[in-house]
Amino acid sequence: MSAKGAGRIAGRYLVTGGAGFVGSHVVAALLDRGDEVVVLDNLATGHRNAVLPGARLVVGDLEDAALVDELLAEQPWDAVLHFAALSLVGDSMRDPFRYIGVNVGTGVRLIGACVRHGVRRFVLSSTAALFGAGSDAPIAEDAPVDPGSPYGESKAMLERTLHWAGRVHGLRSAALRYFNAAGADPRGRLGEDHAPETHLIPLVIDAALGRRPELTVFGADYPTPDGTCIRDYVHVTDLADAHLRALPLLDSASVRFNLGSGQGHSVRDVIASVERVTGRRVPHRIAARRPGDPPVLVAASGRFAQASGWQPRFGELDAIVRTALAWREAHPQGYRAGP
Ligand code: UFG
Repeated sequence: MSAKGAGRIAGRYLVTGGAGFVGSHVVAALLDRGDEVVVLDNLATGHRNAVLPGARLVVGDLEDAALVDELLAEQPWDAVLHFAALSLVGDSMRDPFRYIGVNVGTGVRLIGACVRHGVRRFVLSSTAALFGAGSDAPIAEDAPVDPGSPYGESKAMLERTLHWAGRVHGLRSAALRYFNAAGADPRGRLGEDHAPETHLIPLVIDAALGRRPELTVFGADYPTPDGTCIRDYVHVTDLADAHLRALPLLDSASVRFNLGSGQGHSVRDVIASVERVTGRRVPHRIAARRPGDPPVLVAASGRFAQASGWQPRFGELDAIVRTALAWREAHPQGYRAGP
């Protein structure tokens, strides 16, 4: 460890899935404040170029128990942050056993390895998808867990595993339940690049930019004011900041928080925002519902704000869209063309 910044002792963090969308932004936030970061990523969905040069990238799989042991033995670790997972709700409805098998299997083994190596703090990238059907009211941390998809179920199982890791072994953990992560690093270093892209905001932007013929709206017959699904879009840089703020809370207890903006936006709202920000029309057509999609998912994140002083800087949908647009315009090929 080394002293850096305004008297803060720099930390050392192992980040699984640190080449992915949320993970890479959290790695950037840790590096920006002077921490040492090791990323473990198999690059199945992550990108080498999404790991900023200050971090050490180890290309490897969580299924490789010897590699995980070797890395965890490189003490000291201030915390392990676990992002690596299969993360698409729709995919998980087609292949539930793969989602539950991979996410729960790798997660449980990693948690066990952390305990064996004496790691004291663990951060789980969890999800709003464990709230299933959702509700019209903002969802509180103590709302019943009732996943609407195998993906959500896999994260719920890991949250329970962490509960027992805490009870039996004293591992402190933070389960951070993101609502819809979106946007891009405001400094333009990182963005969202999935292949194939399935997330709404990049797809709407691509339709506006003429990079795809049209957007398919999955269902306009939901019980919502305009018939399309409502989600709580939260800027990925705000999520990254939330991780930094969650870490010191683990000095006193394990925690679980919702991370969202508290604002619900329908698919049609997102289309309108992209049209405002780009000044272009978004060609779209209405299609059938996508299995596993709850009609409404909006967070009550007041508890985290209260516990940590977190305040989303990019709370407005247009601000989220602006940063996403800037990265997509600058990186038409995503990370393939370089950092
Ligand atoms: N949608 C469309 N057309 C598309 C893509 C998406 O209409 O082409 C709709 C979806 O039906 C949904 C909304 O846009 O109503 C958002 O869909 P995304 O695929 O962007 O995101 P999800 O809400 O399915 O899931 C995301 C993450 C999950 C996380 C969840 C938490 O991918 O990992 O947010 O709310 F669990």
